Amino acid sequence: MYRTHTCGCLTLRDAGQTVTLAGWVQRMRDLGGMTFIDLRDRYGITQLTFNMETQPGLCAEARRLGREFVLQVTGTVCERSNKNPKIPTGDIEIHVTELRVLNAALVPPFTIEDDTDGGDELRMRYRYLDLRRAMVRKNIELRHRIAQETRRYLDDHQFLEIETPVLIKSTPEGARDFVVPSRMNPGQFYALPQSPQQYKQLLMVSGFDRYFQIVKCFRDEDLRADRQPEFTQIDCEMSFVEQDDVLQLFEGLIKHLFKKIKGIEFKEPFRRMPYSEAMSLYGSDKPDLRFDMKICDLTQLVKGKGFGIFDQAPYIGGICVPGAAAYSRKQTDELTDFVKSPQVGASGLVYVKWNADGTFKSSVDKFYTPDDLRRWMEAAGASAGDLMLVLSGPADRTRVQLGQLRLEMGNRLGLRSKDEFKPLWVVDFPLFEWDEETQRFYAMHHPFTSPRPEDIQYFETDPGRMAAAAYDCVMNGVELGGGSIRIHDADVQQKMFAALGFTPEQAEEQFGFLMHAFQYGAPPHGGIAFGFDRLVSMMAGLDSIRDTIAFPKNNAGRDVMSNSPAPLDASQLRELHIAVTE
Ligand code: AMO
Repeated sequence: MYRTHTCGCLTLRDAGQTVTLAGWVQRMRDLGGMTFIDLRDRYGITQLTFNMETQPGLCAEARRLGREFVLQVTGTVCERSNKNPKIPTGDIEIHVTELRVLNAALVPPFTIEDDTDGGDELRMRYRYLDLRRAMVRKNIELRHRIAQETRRYLDDHQFLEIETPVLIKSTPEGARDFVVPSRMNPGQFYALPQSPQQYKQLLMVSGFDRYFQIVKCFRDEDLRADRQPEFTQIDCEMSFVEQDDVLQLFEGLIKHLFKKIKGIEFKEPFRRMPYSEAMSLYGSDKPDLRFDMKICDLTQLVKGKGFGIFDQAPYIGGICVPGAAAYSRKQTDELTDFVKSPQVGASGLVYVKWNADGTFKSSVDKFYTPDDLRRWMEAAGASAGDLMLVLSGPADRTRVQLGQLRLEMGNRLGLRSKDEFKPLWVVDFPLFEWDEETQRFYAMHHPFTSPRPEDIQYFETDPGRMAAAAYDCVMNGVELGGGSIRIHDADVQQKMFAALGFTPEQAEEQFGFLMHAFQYGAPPHGGIAFGFDRLVSMMAGLDSIRDTIAFPKNNAGRDVMSNSPAPLDASQLRELHIAVTE
């Protein structure tokens, strides 16, 4: 037996016992007569002591150990004179009588501490060492617990966990596929699934009724803090359900997880907000409801006073920033730079200050009287001491820009606390998105999403006005999950493909197997998928999903530890019938 206890469990109650521990050297302190070593394993840290007077040989040996050496020690649990209330084992130490070095270690390239001296690149190259740091390990442990609780909840609700293939057929729509060449079928390729969407629908045709899978998905898209090329979904599908059934069941899952994992109870039902409201009041389809600062439409109020930019703009909107009237010139200049930055792309910013003394000051004083300005501010529910920020331009674009400015102001004012959680459902998404460049409609969600029943009549006449039976679960400005009720009627599916510009032959070629399956008695069905990495990072209060993944990729999609992707050697390429060009 390598150990009788772990490094995280001994307390004063164990005083006097002889124990054996195994772990890594976290730290050594040499205080002349005594040598102290912090021994670390997954469970915690225990202090070891070596006494120069009583055991000079052992003590000398301990002093030769280096950081991250792997040890086995036996000794007596004793009360500590200098207690450490910050750790559970802080009242005791082990007076070591036997020491065995199980393995030596090179000096690690960075310190294995929460507050490490290692930069991002270095820590990713040595990710196996980074994972020894308590704060990183805790995220991985949290991920495990959330996965277990998810399985428990879904199992309790009759969901079956069923695996689906990873080598599948490439389909258009959505993001770019990662593809895999087939050696046995020269010139042909599999794709890695962007999600198990079609398979889970086939499982409903098969009668499985309730399916889930915690599953890897692959998307070749540009990466951001909340996007990885391979990520994990809690993927679910149910038969004989309407939108309300799905929302209730999965609202239950989120409530279950927050209660079990964080001890937080959401007592109220999640708010349901139509997409159009989210866009017009928050400039985003994933509104952050931790703070107010809603967008106010000023279009009618500001026109006709000779300010050309506003007079010509199709839309003018503003947000009111509470208590910010005292912003300096430098601060408003910074905000102007922010809205003009490429990431926002506005052409300029107008501000109005309602000073504490009741006077008004704005960047458009020339055109508007204090009474005009008061009317704008009052329309946004402002009062003295507040600052109003105004943007103008095409309505959709300007609202999104105001939404970005709103989040920026939320950050600046510290209104986006990581300990507060504001969930909601965004519902009634448009079924289609029009793309100017290719002059065609795209499915906003995916081509199997059902329109709301009352909108089916508009397929031929006005597809742009159709709403989808689709929903997103949003929390704190993050899209945690999304799903929809699916089309189970072959006729409606044909109309959908036609609206997306597929000929019947193209639809047959791309999605034939699903459409055939639907002819054999497809039940009404719908589902949802949650971004598991995003859910974990939300619950852990992290800014990036990378920290929830044991071996993540960097922003260029590289694994810097194994140095992949990498070229293949010529014989491998030949075998796959692939020639690499420039
Ligand atoms: P969707 O594409 O909305 O829906 O994906 C579901 C959820 O997965 C997460 N997500 C990601 N997380 C990390 N990195 C990525 N690159 C990434 N892309 C998406 C998000 C998102 O809400 N098959 C449908 C679901 C359904 O209709 O049932 C689907 O995949 O949190």
